[in-house]
Amino acid sequence: MKNQQIRFDYNNMMSEYVGAKEGISVLEISTQKKRMEAAYQAVQSSRGQGMMGWTELPYNQEETVNDIIQTAKSIRKKFDYFVVLGIGGSALGPMAVFQALCHLRHNELPKSKRRAPKFYVEDNVDPERMSSLLDVVKLEKTMFNVITKSGSTSETMSQFLIIMDLLKKKFGSDAKNHIIATTSENKGNLIKIARAEGLKTFYIPDGVGGRFSELSPVGLLPAAVLGINIKQLLRGAALMDRKCKIKDYRKNPALMAAVLQYIAMKKGKNISVMMPYADSLKLMADWYCQLWGESLGKAADLQGNKVYVGQTPVKALGVTDQHSQVQLYTEGPFDKVITLIGVDKYRKEVTIAEGCQEFPDVNFLCGHTLNELMNAEMLATEYALTKNQRLNSIIMLPEVNAFTIGQLLMFFMMQTAYVGAMLNIDTFNQPGVEEGKNATYALLGRKGYEQKAQELNSKKPKSSKYII
Ligand code: PA5
Repeated sequence: MKNQQIRFDYNNMMSEYVGAKEGISVLEISTQKKRMEAAYQAVQSSRGQGMMGWTELPYNQEETVNDIIQTAKSIRKKFDYFVVLGIGGSALGPMAVFQALCHLRHNELPKSKRRAPKFYVEDNVDPERMSSLLDVVKLEKTMFNVITKSGSTSETMSQFLIIMDLLKKKFGSDAKNHIIATTSENKGNLIKIARAEGLKTFYIPDGVGGRFSELSPVGLLPAAVLGINIKQLLRGAALMDRKCKIKDYRKNPALMAAVLQYIAMKKGKNISVMMPYADSLKLMADWYCQLWGESLGKAADLQGNKVYVGQTPVKALGVTDQHSQVQLYTEGPFDKVITLIGVDKYRKEVTIAEGCQEFPDVNFLCGHTLNELMNAEMLATEYALTKNQRLNSIIMLPEVNAFTIGQLLMFFMMQTAYVGAMLNIDTFNQPGVEEGKNATYALLGRKGYEQKAQELNSKKPKSSKYII
C-alpha cells in the first residue's frame, strides 16, 4: 500500500518559495520546537482519554464493525432509501465520505447500477426540505438512521419525532424496523427512547465528539450501507495515525502542518481555505470547515484567559472557484493560507474530443484529457498563488479510495488537535454551539430553560428606525 499514501507538500509555505516577507523560514519553525514538543506531548499522552477517544477508533471497534457490516448487509437487501437524520458532526462526515467514495450521481443511477439504497442526509429543519424528502422516499422501503451524540439536539429530535410518528401511523409496531439510533450509550434522551421503542442502536463512545466521530458508527454505518469498505477506511486512518505519532516534527505530517498554520496565524493569516481539485472531495471541505472552525475558534485558553483565537475556514472547489474566489486569493489581503487537495489518478479518464480544426485557439485542447486539464489547472493555481506570495500547500491523494480517505480524515483530525494544543485551548468543547442550542430550547419552552428564556425575552427590542 506504499503507493497509496497521501503526501503533504508544504514547499509553498516556505520563504524560499513565497518570499521572506510572507513565507515561513526553517528557523521560524525550529523556534517553535518547544511548543511543538509540548503539543505533541499533550496530544499523544491524552490518546484514548477524555475527549480524545477518537484516536483509538481505528483499533478498538472490531465487534462494532462486524455488527455494522451485518446490519448494513440486511439494510441493502431490504431497503431502497437510507436517510440520515442529524446535524453538524452527526451529518457532515457521512455526507463527505458518501460524496468521496460513491458514484457522483449515486441517487440518479438505476437500482441495478447503484447496488445500494439511495442516500439522503437531512441536516436542516427547513420545512420545505422535510416535505420534499417525503415526496421522494417510499416509507415502506426506507431505513432512517437518527444520529445524535447528545440525544437532545432540537433539529435532530424534531426530525425524529416527525418520522417516528409517520412510521407508527403506517406500520404500527413494525415502525421500529425502519429506524436505527446512533447515540451515546448512557447519556441523553434518544437512548432512553430507543430502548423504550426497541430500536436497533449503535453507540458513539463517550470520548468521541461530534466533529471527531466520522470513524465511529456515526460514519461507519452509512458508509457500510453504501457498500464502502469501512475496514479499509479504518486501515487508512490507522496508517496516518502511526505517522502522526512520530516524535520528529519533520517526519510527522500533522505536526508539521499544525505548526505551519500556527505560525501563519501569528502572522495574521486568519483564514484557512480548503480547495480540493475533485468533485468527489467537495464535501471534505465542508467537513473540514466544521472541524477547524468549531475546534479552534475559542474565546478562552485552558487557564480561562481571554484569547479569541481561531482561523476562519473557507471552502472552495477547484477548478470551479478559479473563476470566482481565486482572484481574491491571489490579489486580495495577505490573510489566508490555501490548502489545495489534488488527486494523482482520477477514477475515470475522459478525453477531449477532436474538433474545431479551423480554430487553433480551441483545437489545442483536443486529444488532452479532462484529467490533464484538471491537473494543469491545479498547477496553474499553485503557480499563481506562489508567484503572488500567498502561503499554500498541497495534499496529494494517489487516488480517492477508502484507504486514502481514512488517511485524510485522520490527518485533519490530528492536525486540528495539534494546533489546538499549540493554542493552549480546549479543542474539543463548543460553548458557542451549546449557547445556540440552549437558546433554542428556551425559545421553544423546554423545561429547565426558563432563566434562559427570560434572558432572551429581556434583550433590548429592535428599533424600527434601523429597518428599511
Ligand atoms: O461537533 C460537535 O460536537 C457538534 O457540531 C455536534 O456534532 C452537533 O451540534 C450535533 O450534536 P449532536 O450529535 O449531539 O446532535
